[in-house]
Amino acid sequence: MTGIICGTGSYAPSYIMGNNDIAKLVETSDEWIQERTGVVRRHIIREETTVSMASKAGLRALRDAGVSPEEIDLILVSTISSNVIIPCAACEVQKELGAVNATCFDLSAACTGFVLAYNTAAAYLACGIYRTALVIGSESLSNLTNWKDRGTCILFGDGAGAAVMKASDQKFYLPVTHSEGAKGVALTCKSRHDCNGLTTELRTESMLDQEYFMQMDGQAVFKFAVKKVPEVVKEVLKRNRISQQEIDWYILHQANRRIVEAVAKRLDEPIEKFPMNLQEYGNTSSASIPILLDELKKDGRLKSGQKIVLAGFGAGLTWGAAMIEWQ
Ligand code: UT7
Repeated sequence: MTGIICGTGSYAPSYIMGNNDIAKLVETSDEWIQERTGVVRRHIIREETTVSMASKAGLRALRDAGVSPEEIDLILVSTISSNVIIPCAACEVQKELGAVNATCFDLSAACTGFVLAYNTAAAYLACGIYRTALVIGSESLSNLTNWKDRGTCILFGDGAGAAVMKASDQKFYLPVTHSEGAKGVALTCKSRHDCNGLTTELRTESMLDQEYFMQMDGQAVFKFAVKKVPEVVKEVLKRNRISQQEIDWYILHQANRRIVEAVAKRLDEPIEKFPMNLQEYGNTSSASIPILLDELKKDGRLKSGQKIVLAGFGAGLTWGAAMIEWQ
């Protein structure tokens, strides 16, 4: 038994900040951001919240799967930026969708969050505890961003992606995941501050302490990702006795185009196997993988029988990979 994805959905706020908008806030340029990160624009919440985006992406995934809210046994929301501390975002999504039969909880593992949420749901479905799950990654990173720090504010964006998973008697692919708390200092954020509706300038003015924003040693995280992601991809393939040649897609967390390119190079795989959409959304943490999955499904690139590796990495530090056979 395992859990298989049978529907996807996503949501991105309509308000867009291009690189030139960022260049009005900090000393940077469109050219620098594109060259160093690949990001061209990012979607930023105005009226939306982490919960409202999660609900919209979740509803779209349910429609895509042809599954009713009442059929959902488990709602799992991966987020580091919920607009509510309690109740958990997943319970708020349950309320929005009317998924009255679901058990709901959140998972916090930053940019590895969706891979871990997928694994958690697959394990529950595989052992028969639940039959249908809604797994969501939703982030309002703009609330955690220091809009005066050019080392971070160029990177991040807001959005949500979701997948409906059902129990299936297909093969269970074992995931590989790791954590290294001792290196967590490379990417931290002390607290959450609700800045909905504020302009980016006012968001920053309203913060008293720099540590309340995300603080990142960009180079340390970059080096960690470029080393650990190819390793964990190889590990997950070895664990499931699958060769690289059998893999159709590597769907990586969308942090930086240069990281994706470096991973492809280290694996000696063509870059065409590594779809990217970070140019449009920036780094949306745990939302990036499900948003990309939804895009690939909608534009017909995912075909039945294809083998896919999902790989996430980020704060914690955490990293991991999961294998999917597309239905
Ligand atoms: O989601 C998982 C967590 N995050 C990540 O995966 C992010 C990983 N790290 C990165 O993506 C990159 O490290 C960044 C995009 C954050 C930074 O790129 P970089 O190539 O590592 O730049 P750098 O920090 O080495 O800075 C290079 C130069 C420096 O100037 P000097 O010392 O060479 O004169 C910086 O001061 O670029 C300067 N710089 C900038 N210039 C214009 C740094 N940020 C900017 C900027 N605009 N925004």
